[in-house]
Amino acid sequence: MTERVVVIGASGFGRECLDALEAMMAAGERLEVLGVVDDSPSAVNLRRLAERDIPYLGTRADWLESGTDRASYVVGIGNPAVRRQLVDELDAAGLRPFTAVHPSATFGARTTLAEGVVVCAGAAISTNVRLGRHVHVNPNVTIGHDAELGDFVSVNPAAVISGEVVVGEGTLVGAAATVLQNLTVGERVVVGAGAVVTRNVPPVVVVKGVPGRWSEEPECSE
Ligand SMILES: CC(C)(COP(=O)(O)OP(=O)(O)OC[C@H]1O[C@@H](n2cnc3c(N)ncnc32)[C@H](O)[C@@H]1OP(=O)(O)O)[C@@H](O)C(=O)NCCC(=O)NCCS
Repeated sequence: MTERVVVIGASGFGRECLDALEAMMAAGERLEVLGVVDDSPSAVNLRRLAERDIPYLGTRADWLESGTDRASYVVGIGNPAVRRQLVDELDAAGLRPFTAVHPSATFGARTTLAEGVVVCAGAAISTNVRLGRHVHVNPNVTIGHDAELGDFVSVNPAAVISGEVVVGEGTLVGAAATVLQNLTVGERVVVGAGAVVTRNVPPVVVVKGVPGRWSEEPECSE
């Protein structure tokens, strides 16, 4: 049976989810992309969807009212807190998440992906890795052996999560940041772009720089 998929979010990551889905179809997966749902798409993003012949299906309310056409969904919104809120709502409406994995991503043995995960082009995910629900792995990310990423983690392009690292729920790891091996990064942390994490990180802080430093007071508001 052909899986019918809707992407939530017309912005950058939403359209990168489309890239992954289109590449899966080109590789022979039986998928149909019904279109994109977004509560407030910009004019430029609507034009970008039209240019690639992807229908805009309206707001979430429009889509839910339309009966959703038995589609499953992928949330293409990078912000972990916003993503969690949307997923709670869509799951409560009885919708099914879809897991989108670009065929150029590579995986080691015994790696597991929970529902709703998105893995973009060129990601290299090693062995015995566990990705929680709705984790986003952006292009060219590396995730080392035995790492565990909690639900709703976002790993931005070219970041490196080393072996045996544990990343807490709702944490965002910025572009080209590196987390060194065997460390734990708490929940709802933001690791800034280019930071190098060299120590365990408590929850709800913003880490910047090399070596990564943070204020002991929580900086990260939602
Ligand atoms: C670290 C981060 C969360 C900081 O956000 P913020 O607190 O709102 O930052 P601001 O823009 O207000 O800057 C505050 C200060 O931090 C500095 N700063 C911002 N990001 C930084 C980073 N990644 N590394 C080092 N310093 C950084 C700013 O230069 C500024 O310094 P100043 O006070 O000396 O002028 C954010 O800049 C970041 O890196 N997010 C990840 C972005 C990413 O991955 N983008 C790719 C998307 S695909």
